Amino acid sequence: MSSRLETEHLFKVFGRRPDAAVERLRQGADREELRAEGTTAAVIDASFTVEPGQIFVVMGLSGSGKSTLLRMLNGLLEPTAGQVRFDGQDLTALTGRELREVRARKISMVFQHFALFPHRSVRENAAYGLEVQGVPRAERERRADEALALCGLAGWEKSWPDELSGGMQQRVGLARALATDAGLLLMDESFSALDPLIRRDMQDQLLQLQKTLKKTIVFITHDLNEAMRLGDRIAVMRDGRIVQIGGAEDILLRPADDYVASFTQDVDRSRVLTARAVMDRGVRGDEADCACETAREDTPFTELCAISARVPHPVAVRDASGALVGVVPRQRLVGFLGDEQAAPVSCDAPRDKGGEKAVARA
Ligand SMILES: Nc1ncnc2c1ncn2[C@@H]1O[C@H](COP(=O)(O)OP(=O)(O)OP(=O)(O)O)[C@@H](O)[C@H]1O
Ligand SMILES: [Mg+2]
Repeated sequence: MSSRLETEHLFKVFGRRPDAAVERLRQGADREELRAEGTTAAVIDASFTVEPGQIFVVMGLSGSGKSTLLRMLNGLLEPTAGQVRFDGQDLTALTGRELREVRARKISMVFQHFALFPHRSVRENAAYGLEVQGVPRAERERRADEALALCGLAGWEKSWPDELSGGMQQRVGLARALATDAGLLLMDESFSALDPLIRRDMQDQLLQLQKTLKKTIVFITHDLNEAMRLGDRIAVMRDGRIVQIGGAEDILLRPADDYVASFTQDVDRSRVLTARAVMDRGVRGDEADCACETAREDTPFTELCAISARVPHPVAVRDASGALVGVVPRQRLVGFLGDEQAAPVSCDAPRDKGGEKAVARA
């Protein structure tokens, strides 16, 4: 139930003579120049593809254009220029009525503030999207209850929203989005209003659900750690433009510019990096022979250090199918992170107590 989402050269300009403004932006003008004329270039030339089943995170400072971009994806805002395609359909070419139909069936949105109806039960809130679709009552209640159970709210169907905690209310919002079977899920700062622990819990729950649901998800956040945890790919926006798209490792290790680098300063790299990021690609015959210890491509850095501490050899890396795809030299684990984050110095001191301690610290 999910499909590819593509945008091509999307622009949104608020203010006077938007078409002329787009032309100037295409020729390299930036936001500031247009602002002087009373025009806001909210989104400038955004192109990206989200594959079915992927979580695509859009990150950027306040005002960078994230919400505007998201609202163009479901047609709540009409692009000034460019295309949005979902499920093979050009959403920018649809009439208002067709667009409403697509929104009701194929796309759901989860907002930052729970946006629940206070005088409807939890079940009725979760069933709202189905009601809009015209699904008969018995069926929509059944599907709403299923979605609530998926979100850990079985037993709360008859409660009122104000009887629930903030985190639970947000889960009702998520259940509402899931109940409709929409293939595309748009989430705008959906967890930002939650306490840190509950927020983390919701992130885990979303990742868990996504394993089976495999929706196409666009998730907006200010928070780099959230972006790194959730995103299969991450787009970083600055002043209306996407300045980099990549995996967490790309953003951390190969930031496109100082702006992106400044975002990643405080990230705990040892938690984000995996074997894939630090390995040398390709395996020589002699390395394959002595590779008694192996890691997987997605083995976290800290675990990699623990593996490396057990043997004097390089660690071989296998992909999901089990094929050898690379090697991590031991030296890499010592010298890789630079500065104080390179705690696992004693990856080189296998099997002694100091080694274990250093690994635990990493
Ligand atoms: N309807 C509108 N009319 C005029 N300007 C707008 C409108 N909506 C957004 N903007 C402007 O477009 C720019 C991008 O806004 P947007 O809400 O997309 O940013 P954001 O990245 O979502 O910010 P935040 O993180 O604060 O939610 C801002 O300068 C904003 O003032
Ligand atoms: Mg916003």
